[in-house]
Amino acid sequence: MKPSLRTCFAAVTITISALAHAAPAVQQKADPWWKHAVIYEIYPRSFQDSNGDGVGDINGIASRLDYLHDLGIDAIWITPMYPSPGIDYGYDISDYTAIDPEYGSMADFDRLVAEAKKRNIRVIMDYVINHTSDQHPWFKESRSSRTNPKRDWYIWRDGKAPGQPPSNWQSWFGHSAWQYDEKTKQYYYHYFYVQQPDLNWRNPQVHVAMEDVLRFWMNKGVAGFRIDAVSRLYEDPGLHDDPYAPGTNVYGDRNIIHKYTDNYPQVNDVLKELRRVVDKYPGDPVLVTEADEPNITELTKLYGNGDEVQLPMDFQIADLNKLSAPGFRKLFNEVENNTAHGQPEYFFSNHDQPRQWDRYGDGVHNDQIAKLMATLLLTTRGTPQMYYGEELGMRTTDPARVEDVHDPIGKLGWPKEKGRDGERTPMQWTGSKDAGFTTAQKPWLPIPPSVSSYNVESERKDPNSIFNAYKRLLSLRKTEPALRDGSYRAIDGDDPNIFAFLRQSGSSRVVVALNMSSEPHSIALHLSGAQHAEVLYASPAQKQQSVPVQTLSLEPFGVVIAKLP
Ligand code: GLC
Ligand code: CA
Repeated sequence: MKPSLRTCFAAVTITISALAHAAPAVQQKADPWWKHAVIYEIYPRSFQDSNGDGVGDINGIASRLDYLHDLGIDAIWITPMYPSPGIDYGYDISDYTAIDPEYGSMADFDRLVAEAKKRNIRVIMDYVINHTSDQHPWFKESRSSRTNPKRDWYIWRDGKAPGQPPSNWQSWFGHSAWQYDEKTKQYYYHYFYVQQPDLNWRNPQVHVAMEDVLRFWMNKGVAGFRIDAVSRLYEDPGLHDDPYAPGTNVYGDRNIIHKYTDNYPQVNDVLKELRRVVDKYPGDPVLVTEADEPNITELTKLYGNGDEVQLPMDFQIADLNKLSAPGFRKLFNEVENNTAHGQPEYFFSNHDQPRQWDRYGDGVHNDQIAKLMATLLLTTRGTPQMYYGEELGMRTTDPARVEDVHDPIGKLGWPKEKGRDGERTPMQWTGSKDAGFTTAQKPWLPIPPSVSSYNVESERKDPNSIFNAYKRLLSLRKTEPALRDGSYRAIDGDDPNIFAFLRQSGSSRVVVALNMSSEPHSIALHLSGAQHAEVLYASPAQKQQSVPVQTLSLEPFGVVIAKLP
C-alpha cells in the first residue's frame, strides 16, 4: 500500500552424532538458498510484452531471464498472473490454479520455470488468500442462496438495522467494508475492493482448498510464495465497531483504527499450516509475507518458532521515507536483534508504493541517493528484494488526469490519492518511445518521459549509471564472504549523519559507510588493528584505492565500502 493508505530460523541445524565410540561430531547443514538470495519483484503487466498487445506477459519475462541472470538475481517474485477480472489488476483472482490468457498459457509458465531453473533463478508465486474475486465460482455459489454449501466460505451478516451495515468497518480502499447483496438480503465483508470478498478463514474447508493451491504450484516446481495481506485473515466474530481517530482519509471517510480486523493470533496458526504444507517439498521452499506490521514485536511474531514465515517483509524500513542515519540505524538494529533470530527481508520499492527514487530523493541529488539506497539494500545482513526498474532509477509517474487512472483506489481517491499506476509503468529497456517494452501503439500504461536517459541500453554503457552501481553491488555481495553471510554490527555510535556498519565473516571484515546528508562529513571508526581499508566500492567514484578509517570522509550522500586488512 502507499504510505498515505496504509499502510528462520538460521537454518544451521546442529546434529550431534550419537555413534558409540565416535567423538561427538558437529555437522552444519548448508544455509537454505533464500538466505543468500536477492529477490526481484516483477509486475508482469509491465515487464516485457512479447505479443504486441501492450501488456507484459510470461514469454516476455522468459525473454529477459538472461538480463536478470547477468544482473545477479537469484529469484523472481511475480505478482498475480492468475485468471482475474482485473479490478485490482490480478489481486482479484477467479481461478487459483490457472494462468490468465492475457499473460500466456500454462505451457508458457512451465517453460518459464524450466528456463529460469537453467539460469539458477527460482520462481516465487503470489498467494492471495484473504479474498477472491467476486467472479470466483466459490463466491458465485456463496452468493446464490443463504443455504448454499459455500455460503459460509465468505463472511455474510445481517445489517444492524435496515440500511445499516453490520459494523462500521472500513475497506482499505475506501468506504464501508460491507456490501449489501439484494439477492439474499445480507451483507458480505470485503477488506479491499467491493469485488474482493473476504474468505472466511474460520471455515476449515477454506483451509483445505487454499492449501491445495500451494500443492498445485509446488508440483510445478516453484520455490515458494509471497503471501498477500496476511494480517487481515481474521476479524472479530462479535463485529465490534472500530474506534474512530481524528480527521478524515483521502476518500473522505472518518479515520478509524483497524482494531477488529487485523492481526488476530489465528493468523499465526494459518502460517504454521502453510509452512507444514510447503515443507513437505524438497529444495527449502520459502514463504515471504506482505506484513506491513507496525513494529518489530508484531513483525517478529510472523517467524513463529522458526515454523512460520522465513521472510516477513520489513515495511518499517521500507516506509521510513526519509534519509536519516539514526532512523535506519535504529530499525536495522531492531530487526538484526529480533528475538526469533529470523532472517530479515528488506526492500524499498514495490507495486504498492511510490518508487524510492522520488521518495528518498531530495530533488537535487536523486541519482546519488539512488546509489546510496542501493548500497543500503545490498550490503546489510538479510535477504534483499528489488522492484523491477529500481536498478535504473525509474521514478513514479502518476497519471495526469483522472480519466487515465487504472488503479481503483486512484479512481476513488482522486485527486488526493492518485493510485498506484505511477509505480507500475513499463520497464525501460531502451530510450525509444516504446521503451523496448512493446510494439503496440499504446502500452497499457504510458512510458514515462525519463525513458530517454534512464534505460537499460544507455545505462549499461555509462560506468557511473545507477544500473552499474547495482551490478557492482550485486556482484560484491556474492563474492565478498563478509557481505554474503557475515555478521552485522553498527559501528558509528550515534552519528547524526553517517550510518556505518561492519560485516564480518571469519577474518574477512568489510566496513560500509553511508552519508545520509547533503553536506560532506567524516567519521572516525575505531576498529582494532586497522588504519587503512581497501576500497571495494565508492560513490561518487573515488581515485584512492584505500581510505583511512580513523577519518573516513564522505561526500554528500556518499558511500564507501572498504575491506579491512
Ligand atoms: C496487497 C497487494 C495489493 C493489493 C492488495 C489487495 O496489498 O500488494 O496490490 O491491492 O493486497 O489484494
Ligand atoms: Ca502481451
